[in-house]
Amino acid sequence: MDKFVIKGGPALQGEILTSGSKNAALPALAAALLTDEPVTLRRVPRVRDIRTMQRLLVDIGSKAAAKGETLTLHTPAIVSPEAPYELVKTMRASALVLGPLVARARSARVSLPGGCAIGARPINLHLTGLEQLGAAIRQEHGYIEAHAPEGLRGATVHFDRITVTGTEDLMMAAVLARGETELRNAAREPEVVDLAELLNKMGARVEGAGTSTIRMQGVEKLHGAEHTIIPDRIEAGTFLVAGAITRGDLTVTGCNPEHLGALIAKLMQTGAEITRPDPTALRIRVPRPLRSVDVTTEEYPGFATDLQAQYMALMTQAEGIALIVETIFENRFMHALELARMGANIRLDGRQAIVAGPRTLTGAGVIASDLRASASLVLAGLVAKGETVIDRVYHIDRGYEKIEEKLAAAGAQIRRVE
Ligand code: EPU
Repeated sequence: MDKFVIKGGPALQGEILTSGSKNAALPALAAALLTDEPVTLRRVPRVRDIRTMQRLLVDIGSKAAAKGETLTLHTPAIVSPEAPYELVKTMRASALVLGPLVARARSARVSLPGGCAIGARPINLHLTGLEQLGAAIRQEHGYIEAHAPEGLRGATVHFDRITVTGTEDLMMAAVLARGETELRNAAREPEVVDLAELLNKMGARVEGAGTSTIRMQGVEKLHGAEHTIIPDRIEAGTFLVAGAITRGDLTVTGCNPEHLGALIAKLMQTGAEITRPDPTALRIRVPRPLRSVDVTTEEYPGFATDLQAQYMALMTQAEGIALIVETIFENRFMHALELARMGANIRLDGRQAIVAGPRTLTGAGVIASDLRASASLVLAGLVAKGETVIDRVYHIDRGYEKIEEKLAAAGAQIRRVE
């Protein structure tokens, strides 16, 4: 298993390029199941979760051809409409094939995900929604079986709570359903909007993505398309925090600043200066000591839960007390205990973390527990005195493309050891 060895100290300088969004690319790959024609996706990040999804699609019946960041998926027929436990347990986003499979093959068998490091993460809302579209759902032997022998029919689905992949799954189911579907209390994340754009390029009729009501007029058939995935806002946000925590002068290029509004606002309150040298770049400098600022995670356009761990690392270096409230997942503070091993002063109370700073962090051996927790440990390592060794970096490889190379090019002393 690979580890990262980081020597803290250097302020990051120069430019870092953002990759395509993992969480936009995952549903885009699943959407390719909806047509028997080729779908070509550009700017697909080369991360492990994408390789896992690609493997799943190939098992289902897709042919995949990758060239750099471009991936073409062609599914002439659904050979096996199934997502096995072996894949779902390593990546819960595998549940995204449920909607497209029921829509195209009229049946699907998908393993239930089981436990997760950041919270319960059930898929009940995907299932209730599919039932409302006319699928019969059965659970047996740890698997969900969904059948719609006559095809799905449009319906109004009101989500009990906002779910990102639930919204995406239902969109993919509804585009081939008979009649109109309305999704209410839908997720407004940019990844949902990107999926709607791809589906419309494939001939679907989706309206309202980016608002909390999304409408789909079902069509008979979808066709092939070409689409470029949006930049990864969480990766870009992680680099902005890297610039802030090292008090460097860093420009994050190839990003969409519109998608980073909540983080930019927070970072500016902490004392960072952020400018937009061009429409797809953000430059961050921190000319004065950082101040503590409270944060509460929310659905988009609020502050992303996927940036909470990184922000916590930053608050260990800020003057004052920061209250961090996690409202999306019930158990997403695993990084706090590892940060504490490096010298951070963090108190946990249910869904709240209280971070007192600034504290001098010292390098230590730490363990990555999930993707974003690992990113926060990398950030802490960049400012810790001495050497930080992060174990189980396969978590970070799930969602960050060559993070150590990108950070090293900006001056960080980080290397991967096998
Ligand atoms: N929820 C339910 N029932 C459901 C679905 C969700 O109770 O059927 C609950 C969840 O347990 C959670 C909340 O609703 O408490 C929100 O979960 P959501 O469904 O929105 O999360 P997700 O779709 O499984 C996506 C991202 C996550 C990101 C969350 C929240 C992808 C592939 N994953 O997950 O990304 O944290 O939205 O924004 O898009 C990551 O990239 O590190 C990551 C975990």
